Amino acid sequence: MRNDTTDVRLPAAVHLEIQPPSSYSSSFGSEPWQREIRSFRGEVIYENGRFPHFRMEDGEFDDADEHDRHAYHVLARLRSTGELIASARLAPAELLAPSKVMALDEPGATRLLSKERLRRTDVLEGARWVVHPHHRRQNIGQLLVVASNVLAQRLGRSLIWVLAGTVAGQDAILRHFGFWEASPDSHPMPEVGDMVKLLACRPEQLLGNHPRLAAQVAPAVLDELTRIRLGRESSPVA
Ligand SMILES: CC(C)(COP(=O)(O)OP(=O)(O)OC[C@H]1O[C@@H](n2cnc3c(N)ncnc32)[C@H](O)[C@@H]1OP(=O)(O)O)[C@@H](O)C(=O)NCCC(=O)NCCS
Repeated sequence: MRNDTTDVRLPAAVHLEIQPPSSYSSSFGSEPWQREIRSFRGEVIYENGRFPHFRMEDGEFDDADEHDRHAYHVLARLRSTGELIASARLAPAELLAPSKVMALDEPGATRLLSKERLRRTDVLEGARWVVHPHHRRQNIGQLLVVASNVLAQRLGRSLIWVLAGTVAGQDAILRHFGFWEASPDSHPMPEVGDMVKLLACRPEQLLGNHPRLAAQVAPAVLDELTRIRLGRESSPVA
């Protein structure tokens, strides 16, 4: 497991943003920021035509997913232009019907919960960890992982689980950050052309292994949570 001994820093040019669940809305896509996330993810996952279903007939990109409205969306933007350069999604596992993890690896997930003495309501399910190709290998992926763990801790969730792709070594990168392999089985996920594996992390442990980055990222996460909560209080009750 990686320790925070290297000089990883929150890039100064990057702004962290968190968008809240929008479970009240029947479709995730009515707000401009929701369409922006769907289009951003669609364009990155499209990968020069490798997954053509992420490009619509009108030439626009889209990644529609039923779990989006239940999730917190952790985003990174360039401060200078506001351009969205990375995103990840974290949803309370018990709200997902069905959770992708439960759908693909229910035995592994059940064993994991039992071993960790946790319930599904203790878990955030992570997905769609995506950094724009022009901004990779600059610690933005790591920034999202650490921010997601701070968020989980603040929401009182003891575990993050994800189905990590293996083809490009994404599972190895997540293990490097402090996730562990929670199940020996791999499962095909044809929509993104990958074999995926169940990985998990305990936010307390992962943040303990990245103390400097965690200390830098935590205030930004707390600011965003305050902004989200204030926004909710001031919006009209439906
Ligand atoms: C996986 C992904 C999110 C990583 O984002 P990133 O911003 O490039 O990651 P970081 O710069 O924070 O790199 C984190 C660490 O992983 C390493 N790493 C990143 N990409 C790597 C790669 N392709 N191969 C090997 N190591 C890699 C980095 O060297 C770094 O380690 P270091 O800090 O010791 O140098 C990005 O490559 C991506 O969007 N891929 C396509 C979508 C995807 O597959 N998502 C994952 C679904 S499970």
